[in-house]
Amino acid sequence: MTTTPYWIAGRPATGTDVLEVRSPFDGALAGRTTNATAEDVEAAVSAAHDARAACAATPAHVRAAALDHVSHRLAERAEEIAALITAESGKPLKWARSEAARAVSTFRWGAEEARRWSGTLQRLDTDPAASGRMALVRRAPRGPVLGIAPFNFPLNLVAHKVAPAIAVGAPIVLKPAPATPLSALLLGEILAETDLPAGSWSVLPVPNEVAAQLVRDPRLPVVSFTGSVPVGWSIRESAPRKHVTLELGGNAAAVVAPDQDDAALDWAATRIATFAMYQAGQSCVSVQRVFAHRDIAAGLTDRVVEAVGKLVTGDPTDSATDVGPLIDEQAARRVESWVDEAVAAGGRLLAGGTRDGASYAPTVLADVPADVKVSCEEVFGPVVVLDTVDSLDEAFTRVNDSRFGLQAGVFTRDLQVAFRAAQVLDVGGVVIGDVPSFRADQMPYGGVKDSGTGREGVHAAMEDLTEERVLVLTGIAV
Ligand code: SIN
Repeated sequence: MTTTPYWIAGRPATGTDVLEVRSPFDGALAGRTTNATAEDVEAAVSAAHDARAACAATPAHVRAAALDHVSHRLAERAEEIAALITAESGKPLKWARSEAARAVSTFRWGAEEARRWSGTLQRLDTDPAASGRMALVRRAPRGPVLGIAPFNFPLNLVAHKVAPAIAVGAPIVLKPAPATPLSALLLGEILAETDLPAGSWSVLPVPNEVAAQLVRDPRLPVVSFTGSVPVGWSIRESAPRKHVTLELGGNAAAVVAPDQDDAALDWAATRIATFAMYQAGQSCVSVQRVFAHRDIAAGLTDRVVEAVGKLVTGDPTDSATDVGPLIDEQAARRVESWVDEAVAAGGRLLAGGTRDGASYAPTVLADVPADVKVSCEEVFGPVVVLDTVDSLDEAFTRVNDSRFGLQAGVFTRDLQVAFRAAQVLDVGGVVIGDVPSFRADQMPYGGVKDSGTGREGVHAAMEDLTEERVLVLTGIAV
């Protein structure tokens, strides 16, 4: 097997510190790459710093063409890419295919937004002192971006850092997750086919201590981090003068209202079962907590348990598999200990509760006290906790009784309830008629409270990576 190069200012390079990337399911070798050398890290950062003006001055048609090219090439190579995502992360092939398709659309949205990215005109002659003046308000890059990506979407959460940076003309140095660097490096191969200015992008596997140095490097004034809650907030604390965007964890909740008839309950239960367990629960918006109104709670519980029982577990390379392994055995052991804690505290195990290596069986719990970890922390595993409430007000209070606030889902047919949920739920997004896990890549995405700060979603990230610049024009007819 050849060694996959990393990318320094658009050029391939190889170091000596070898990283073997293995499937968490069976240890099969997915690929081999190397950590970037100290010299190459320095070359990437100084190239990004030097490329600031060239990137910002790149015409929109060049940026859009590059983004369209990446989108098309990802589509052409989708099956190969999905297989790579599965091989390195253990994500079931069906979800890896969905991730590859989402990355196609993330880059396509980048191209479309790059073409639209213009600015606004503001009249200033609203006071006599500013007669004959107007302002052109545009957004300029804050500077080169350090993007730090997680393992759970090794391609599309990299795309959410790279595409907006290219779209606004900001150089980016991207650090993929140590467990899953190969998809990001393949993206580098495609980026290298474009005409973007030298220095505008690098993809560097580096150990976490080197990442910490990059976080402090003043030549990278913007840090866009997706990953764990403690690491995210420690980045913010260690770089108080930087613009830091954090997409962190959550313990997302779904509320099921009493207005759900049998067909609606079937839908709700299927969606809850699927999106509590997909990617083995390793999504920041996977369904972890369910608050069902007492009138429909028993029917929902039966349906969720039945739907979970139908999920196909096992080999992620089999396209029938719904739920594969976690990222490693240590993660599965942690989930196991949290479920054991919940059961010891009085929780009822309705399904699952067993571990085999890095795989943990899809698990449904009920009657779990609110203060045990599966209720109040982020499980990031295939576990859902079902709870019964007497009113929607109680449900909304329980949803908000969390240190996290990423997204929430509300199954209701009542528009009043929908608007009330949007008003009272302390989260970055409310999804009506579906699980909190729903995400379209163009929509603003991010959290409140411990779940982070700032927003991704292509246009939202473009705003986040830039700041307003005003050009005042004087002596003109307005
Ligand atoms: C995340 O885990 O935060 C990303 C979820 C998604 O993109 O679907």
